[in-house]
Amino acid sequence: MLVTRRLAPGVLDRLAASCAVTAHDDDLPMPRADLLAAARGSAAVLATLDDVVDAEFLDAAGPGLRIVANHAVGTHNIDVAACAARGVVATNTPGVLTAATADHAFALLLAAARRLGEGERWLRAGRPWTWAPNFLLGMELSGARLGVLGMGRIGRAVARRAAGFDMSVSYHNRRPLPDQPDAQWLPLPELLSTAQVLVVSCPLTDETRGLLDAARLALLPAGAVLVSITAGVVDEVALAAAVESGALFAAAVDNHVSEPEVTPELLAQERIVLSPHLGSATVHTRQAMGNLAVDNILSVLGGNPPLTGV
Ligand code: GLV
Ligand code: GLV
Repeated sequence: MLVTRRLAPGVLDRLAASCAVTAHDDDLPMPRADLLAAARGSAAVLATLDDVVDAEFLDAAGPGLRIVANHAVGTHNIDVAACAARGVVATNTPGVLTAATADHAFALLLAAARRLGEGERWLRAGRPWTWAPNFLLGMELSGARLGVLGMGRIGRAVARRAAGFDMSVSYHNRRPLPDQPDAQWLPLPELLSTAQVLVVSCPLTDETRGLLDAARLALLPAGAVLVSITAGVVDEVALAAAVESGALFAAAVDNHVSEPEVTPELLAQERIVLSPHLGSATVHTRQAMGNLAVDNILSVLGGNPPLTGV
């Protein structure tokens, strides 16, 4: 078995108790050549979003590979069709990271709307200030209209949090959801043109890649705030331009298109809050993600179905 990254404490021990494990015990991803070499002969691979699991990888692993367990809810690093063609099970870690990720989306939303990053940088730079009626004014979230693009587990958890802020919620999904009576389904253009706050929480797929380009961002009302917790759906350069021009009040971005690189245009904007892919980054949740990946591996190697197959 191959584990491509250092895991939360105790998680690796559960695998090592019953399997021969090769572990890349490091916080940095494995270089591609090392990854391909280490995968050879593995029955199971515990992978992260940085490990591209494509035909080349699967061929390098060889015919004994039975499961790739992604340590993420996202699966855009995995060619699921190529896995299926070889009879390899792919799994992810849905559910266990929903609350932490929705909390982080809200942290970003509050930080962007209330200019926390700017305020903190102001103080740390030792700039003069006093309380003043017009100093660093933000956007009022109470009562604002929230649009959720992607009403999956995380989008719904964001909507639940928004209720506590007296926000009204509309959303866009492939289809209206019968179990969301308090939220209004809207076609994408209507969602965008009415959202004072937009949270982008859909997965990155062939359908969503690049969906929010400059033209679609231009549909947002003047002074809106956009929070993205999915890389690749929002055009980052267009987003930065929309903030720079004042069309958007502020924005926040957690996942990045070419991690660990951060798009320079985003970095240049004071009104854009940036976090280094921290959505699921709590002690509790990372433990739960690691354990779910391990449970998937042990289940499949034991001849049982995966718990959370893709
Ligand atoms: C995080 O980015 C995930 O997909 O789990
Ligand atoms: C704020 O600090 C106030 O007292 O108004």
